[in-house]
Amino acid sequence: MTGFVTRAFLLGAALALVPLAACKQADQPTEALSGDDWYAYGADDNGLHYSALDEINQSNVADLGLAWSYDIDTFDAYTQPLEVGGVVYFGAGLSVITALDAKTGEQLWQYDPKVAEAPDAGTHMRAGWGIRGIAYRNGKVFAATREGRLIAVNAKDGTLAWSVQTLDEAPGAYITGPPLVAGGVVVIGFGGADYSPVRGYVTAYDLNTGKKAWRWYVVPGNPAVDKDETTLEAAKTWTGEWWKFGGGGAVYHAMTYDPKYDKILLGTGNGFPWNQKIRSPGGGDNLYLASIVALDAKTGKRAWHYQTNPGITWDFNNAMDIGLTTLEIDGKPRDVVVHAPKNGFYYVIDRKTGKLVNAPGKFAKVNWAEKVDLATGRPEINPEALYPDGKPFVLFPFPAGAHGVQAMAHSPKTGLTYIPVMEAGRVHIDPDNMKEWSPKLGMFVNTGLGAPPPDIKTDPPVSKLVAWDPAKQQKAWEVPTPNTFNGGVLATGGNLVFQGQNSGEIVALAADTGKQLWSFKAQNGILSAPISYRVGGKQYVTVIASYRSSFANQPNWDYREQKRRLLTFALGAKGKLPDPVPYKLEVQDDPTFVVDEAKAAIGGGIYNQNCNICHGAGMVAGGAAPDLRMSPIPLDAAAFRSVLHDGALMARGMGKFDNLSDEELEGLRHYIRQRARETKEAK
Ligand code: HEC
Repeated sequence: MTGFVTRAFLLGAALALVPLAACKQADQPTEALSGDDWYAYGADDNGLHYSALDEINQSNVADLGLAWSYDIDTFDAYTQPLEVGGVVYFGAGLSVITALDAKTGEQLWQYDPKVAEAPDAGTHMRAGWGIRGIAYRNGKVFAATREGRLIAVNAKDGTLAWSVQTLDEAPGAYITGPPLVAGGVVVIGFGGADYSPVRGYVTAYDLNTGKKAWRWYVVPGNPAVDKDETTLEAAKTWTGEWWKFGGGGAVYHAMTYDPKYDKILLGTGNGFPWNQKIRSPGGGDNLYLASIVALDAKTGKRAWHYQTNPGITWDFNNAMDIGLTTLEIDGKPRDVVVHAPKNGFYYVIDRKTGKLVNAPGKFAKVNWAEKVDLATGRPEINPEALYPDGKPFVLFPFPAGAHGVQAMAHSPKTGLTYIPVMEAGRVHIDPDNMKEWSPKLGMFVNTGLGAPPPDIKTDPPVSKLVAWDPAKQQKAWEVPTPNTFNGGVLATGGNLVFQGQNSGEIVALAADTGKQLWSFKAQNGILSAPISYRVGGKQYVTVIASYRSSFANQPNWDYREQKRRLLTFALGAKGKLPDPVPYKLEVQDDPTFVVDEAKAAIGGGIYNQNCNICHGAGMVAGGAAPDLRMSPIPLDAAAFRSVLHDGALMARGMGKFDNLSDEELEGLRHYIRQRARETKEAK
């Protein structure tokens, strides 16, 4: 904690020395950005993941080939690049930013914010993965770091322009989402509300100088102490002593700037803990959780909000894409927000008023609500879905959502939205210790839920790509996709939809019918969305191949074996990827190691609370981290301690668990040996 204080003090002192002229407020971005560029996470201000370019189209996409590729040496590159003026920029892993020549793939510069050396970084790295995206404006590339800095790097040469610490009021949180440029400011939220008591907020900083412009809190604080706008307006929709839990509502991914109304649209998170009976025991809507909130870009004052899940008691949130478009509704063009969040309903919202424009349709299997009332905007909630009186309920969609942060794309040309959809159920039930439940119990995700009764079985998840007509609120077409998690989507003016998949391929489909027209073997699973842009009169498609999951997949992209790469395609290009080098993975064992059941039980408890999100459920890794059964490190107590307790691998993405006692570390070693031996014996 002291690290933050020192940092804030030093930064304050440094800013005081900046000459006044350099602090001039940037009212409007001065640089003209062209439709050839992909300059924001969602392509441009509309956030639709759509490029109007049509040189690559249905008639010639079969000739699309690899123009160049770039190997990325990091632990996680589930991240989306940008392209501006012939340069491709991307941030990966611990926010290392790279600039490449878009025509050749030649590296122009790289900037490393050295996250592992930052104070307290090891603690922030106990959850979250690499960064998912960056922002660009006025010759600067903006990125956030896991331990909470927002940095601006000069696009020309990769030197640091400014840096601020934004987690000064959220010490347990981390950042992996992309910043947003909105007029003269850059806005950043954060994630981690599932891991620690967090009160969500977003902060805006001057684009040119990094000077703090305003901060807006998503949930109220303690009304006896806090007098900010949110506490004054929203505390009456909460009950009990929610501020002791933080409340949640983190804005961890999606934000969009609407230049027409000068509004920033935020997608807010769910509550902390998930279970409302603990968080806000007397009920209430719990504003502004699970909402889209419009803030005035200059002042940070709330203009309107639309809450998709009043009184949220699940893991649904609104961190999924917020797109801006014009749709013809009842014969009239309407400026709308399009949004398909985790909860499985597709929302079309008026950009000026925040009111529903038509009745939301279900784009996936949903059983928590029958429908959403068009007049009131409120869902008609199935009472059983609130898992009352200790009764379990199998909730659809599951916590990962009918649609997660894998980008959807909307094409103004077809009028359709292309959504990577998942369908699965998950048991929700109150914990036995609801009365004395405390976030200090050390659960890796502080849900406030109980363990699912073993007799309730749920089907394995299925996934598909759904083309949705938001004006009619109905499905246009759907195609099945492999396994559970697949990549984000790109739509283009060439009437094409591109998606990277878990199969290790990137495919192009006809935007009007879903027919597959092209595919390329990327040699790796893909989660991030492709982008498209034009340089020197030529259209390119770029995607980053990298895969991570907390569960085993089919195929399972091993952490060490997978090739994380940026791939760029152009018509007529004939490039080939080098043949994959087989990597030998074997379960390790030390026959002299005697597993102590009691010690292994301690280790199992810790593993399931702290490690499985990266190293895999049941210690079967899914690409987010090495499979510990195959690691030589736990065989050596000293090496294990230096990784876990001393943070020896922090620069490679493994956090520091200096909170674990010697007994707990020993327990983990016994549990790892136990799982390794069980695996060997099962073969
Ligand atoms: C947020 C993700 C994350 C969490 C949580 C996490 N790890 Fe890791 N861990 C990693 C990554 C990524 C690496 C690989 C670093 C590298 O490339 O060398 C790693 C590496 C390791 C290694 C070294 C493996 C090897 O063969 O090099 C061990 C041992 C390990 N972790 C144990 C644990 C244990 C035990 C826990 C829980 C207390 C844990 N980790 C929690 C991400 C995580």
